[in-house]
Amino acid sequence: MAKKKKTPSESFVSMTELVLPNDTNTLNNLMGGRLMHWMDIVSAISAQKHSNRIVVTASVDNISFKHPIRLGNVVTLKARVTRAFNSSMEVRIDVDAEDIPANQKVESNSAYFTFVAVDQSGRPIDVPEIEPENELEKEYYNGALRRRQLRLILAGRMKPSEANELKSLFDIKEV
Ligand SMILES: CC(C)(COP(=O)(O)OP(=O)(O)OC[C@H]1O[C@@H](n2cnc3c(N)ncnc32)[C@H](O)[C@@H]1OP(=O)(O)O)[C@@H](O)C(=O)NCCC(=O)NCCS
Repeated sequence: MAKKKKTPSESFVSMTELVLPNDTNTLNNLMGGRLMHWMDIVSAISAQKHSNRIVVTASVDNISFKHPIRLGNVVTLKARVTRAFNSSMEVRIDVDAEDIPANQKVESNSAYFTFVAVDQSGRPIDVPEIEPENELEKEYYNGALRRRQLRLILAGRMKPSEANELKSLFDIKEV
């Protein structure tokens, strides 16, 4: 039987947080760890919406912090599943920070988290496929295969020689 398909918008989640003193470092900037915690939560909810299952964080891709987020800023995190494989799902999170009194908004960062849907015993279980609808969703969907191969190589779960998508990207020739 064909696997059920769902769109990225069905897993869309938006979460808003106000940066309070307990969230900041001694420079009054948001702590990176607090932001990663919020990113983990919003993306886990997104993966749950896609799979209707319990999910666990399997991996977190590189996160860069481009701009400090200040005390009093309003942080909005938007997450959606970009692609689902068997039991795993790649979730993209986009974060922006807003200084509402100054009417200024900056795109803070984005990242990809991978979640695995599990049963009550913690065993991986299959999830619906993703059917991208618009151009941006298709771009994220197509790139997901390369990112999956890269993260599985880095996790020691795939041999570089098996990463066909990456090989074609870098035009690596077999010797
Ligand atoms: C994630 C976990 C369920 C994978 O279990 P496993 O026995 O290794 O299962 P499998 O080898 O069958 O892999 C299952 C899926 O996880 C994916 N996966 C496993 N490790 C991964 C990693 N480091 N990065 C990306 N995906 C990973 C596999 O590619 C596979 O995806 P697919 O089903 O879509 O093909 C298991 O390692 C786990 O429970 N980890 C702890 C999760 C957790 O507690 N997170 C919070 C940390 S505090």
